[in-house]
Amino acid sequence: MAEGLAKIRVNHDVFYNPKMQGLRNISVSFLSAVGSSGRSLLDATAASGIRAIRYKKECDVGHITALDINRKAHSMCASNMKLNKVGAIALNTSIQEYTNATDQRFDIIDLDPFGSPAPYIFDIMKVCGNGTLLMVTATDTAVLCGAHSDACMKQYGSRPLHNELCKEAGLRILYSYIARVAAGFNFGMVPLLGISDMHYMRAFVRLESGALAAARSAKTNGIGGFCVKCGGFELWSGIGRLCGQTCQNCRSDMEGFGPIWTGKLYDRQLLGKMAEQSNEGIVRIVDDELDTPMFYSMPAMTRRMRKGSVSHYKIIERLRQKGFSATRTQFDSDGVKTNAPVSEVSKAIGT
Ligand SMILES: C[S@@+](CC[C@H](N)C(=O)[O-])C[C@H]1O[C@@H](n2cnc3c(N)ncnc32)[C@H](O)[C@@H]1O
Ligand SMILES: [Zn+2]
Repeated sequence: MAEGLAKIRVNHDVFYNPKMQGLRNISVSFLSAVGSSGRSLLDATAASGIRAIRYKKECDVGHITALDINRKAHSMCASNMKLNKVGAIALNTSIQEYTNATDQRFDIIDLDPFGSPAPYIFDIMKVCGNGTLLMVTATDTAVLCGAHSDACMKQYGSRPLHNELCKEAGLRILYSYIARVAAGFNFGMVPLLGISDMHYMRAFVRLESGALAAARSAKTNGIGGFCVKCGGFELWSGIGRLCGQTCQNCRSDMEGFGPIWTGKLYDRQLLGKMAEQSNEGIVRIVDDELDTPMFYSMPAMTRRMRKGSVSHYKIIERLRQKGFSATRTQFDSDGVKTNAPVSEVSKAIGT
């Protein structure tokens, strides 16, 4: 079968999900926009080898190393590399074994495991260097989105949200986890793109060596507060204010979540380049999206206010008329991102 410029053979022993083609397309357009020609690549969880092959043929990456712990996947990957005339070192080994044994550092690393990437991030850091681009998939979205709060505490060391804001909170938890582990290796983390779609999240970040960069991104981790009563929220960088926060709007107690990444989610310039050439609708939504923390979900807000349903486009328009910035968001098809406080959003809904 064919995907992008790759031809691959797969069978039922080797994982290949055609539904993830859109996400692979986004990764290809990310690498093209960021500039990956000649840069070394580690496909840490290669399966059929589809990603490494596409990155070679469509983005001209340099030297490729492709790992898979599964013997059948490894041999399928090696044969797909040959089929596509892509020179690569394909190894039948685990991330843990490989990263402990090698002194190689990679410019680009793709980590796409089953479920949570958290158990692999520490080992992955051992093969990162200054400027390494990390692309990390998480498919344990139920955990990151708070369906299993204890599991999120255990896996990511963070308290999730389990409400309308859970997707963005989940992506911020994933960023925060990567940033915390990276800081221990003296790397700062610069977020470039984060996607939350269907049953996955994907973080695209760049690492920067140095104690200052590491401390800066570690301090970008912080805590969030969410007001169940009015839908207001606040994010505090640093871990100074863990509990006891009251909502500025309605004075109710806030529900705490985090640690989360409190900073920007996207690199605007890079997204602009991607949006020019990508056919993936979500890239265009993210390109338009205001990069402010969290958002207001219209169904949840109107339910709280006991109002009839209202179109998020109408609220965006009303907020803009009042001089605020407001956009739609990838995290909720009925959501509004804005720099307006909850009191103004409620007024816009009420009018
Ligand atoms: C979700 S699949 C990867 C799919 C592939 N990236 C794609 O886009 O089609 C995860 C792969 O990681 C492999 N894997 C699981 N644990 C691993 C480990 N510790 N080290 C290396 N590979 C591992 C599995 O055998 C499986 O083939
Ligand atoms: Zn409130």
